[in-house]
Amino acid sequence: MRKSLVATGIVIAALVFAMPTLAATAKDAPADVTIDVCAAKKSAVEFPHAAHFELTECATCHHTNDGLAADSDMDVPSCASCHQDPEGETPDCAQMSLSKNPYHITCVTCHKESGAEAAPTKCDGCHPKAG
Ligand code: HEC
Ligand code: HEC
Ligand code: HEC
Ligand code: HEC
Repeated sequence: MRKSLVATGIVIAALVFAMPTLAATAKDAPADVTIDVCAAKKSAVEFPHAAHFELTECATCHHTNDGLAADSDMDVPSCASCHQDPEGETPDCAQMSLSKNPYHITCVTCHKESGAEAAPTKCDGCHPKAG
């Protein structure tokens, strides 16, 4: 009895530790995301994810997931899994530049083009100042 409890504990611990390395599937798409993997010079960004589903296709942003749709079983790797400390010319999420940071390219470009008043284009609109 005791032995099997210990064994179960080990299996559960192994599963818990393995989780973060697995990509979420489309079904688990979060309604809101705090993007903070690269936050160092600027504050983390609150991103209303689900509110963007009606504005464009999933693959506009998830450009390595062709044909991605809500409710599918497709694995969706996080942007950061490829854009944090990437090799070569791949845009790096630690970049300040509006033309070199992968999020700036994706988010700010569309916000500017949309002309929508509610779409932030100024630094503070996405990176609120502390206090
Ligand atoms: C539409 C939203 C948006 C706007 C506008 C925006 N950013 Fe960002 N920025 C992001 C996101 C998302 C990240 C990725 C954050 C992360 O991964 O932690 C980011 C990352 C950064 C980073 C690298 C991470 C860090 O904190 O060191 C810097 C620096 C930065 N932005 C500066 C700026 C500056 C300066 C402006 C204005 C010229 C600006 N951003 C405008 C969304 C935005
Ligand atoms: C406007 C851009 C954008 C659109 C459109 C978008 N997403 Fe996302 N999605 C993101 C960002 C940004 C993140 C979280 C930050 C990161 O991955 O670094 C994210 C995270 C996810 C995650 C969690 C990934 C993980 O492993 O943590 C899933 C699942 C997901 N999206 C699925 C979808 C699905 C399904 C759709 C279409 C119905 C969709 N997304 C539309 C930008 C977008
Ligand atoms: C599986 C790895 C991977 C994932 C996941 C990924 N990217 Fe990328 N991304 C790349 C690579 C590699 C490049 C450079 C080559 C290219 O343009 O395809 C790139 C290029 C880009 C570019 C530059 C495209 C251009 O035309 O200048 C942007 C912007 C970008 N990614 C944003 C994102 C965002 C936002 C997410 C998450 C919603 C994301 N990426 C998820 C690997 C990835
Ligand atoms: C395909 C175009 C597009 C892309 C890509 C996009 N957005 Fe947006 N976003 C919009 C539009 C349009 C609005 C305004 C919606 C409205 O008028 O209600 C908006 C609104 C927002 C808002 C304000 C929501 C509110 O109600 O206050 C935030 C924050 C935001 N976007 C963050 C981001 C971030 C961060 C990314 C990149 C990960 C991103 N967006 C990518 C088009 C886009």
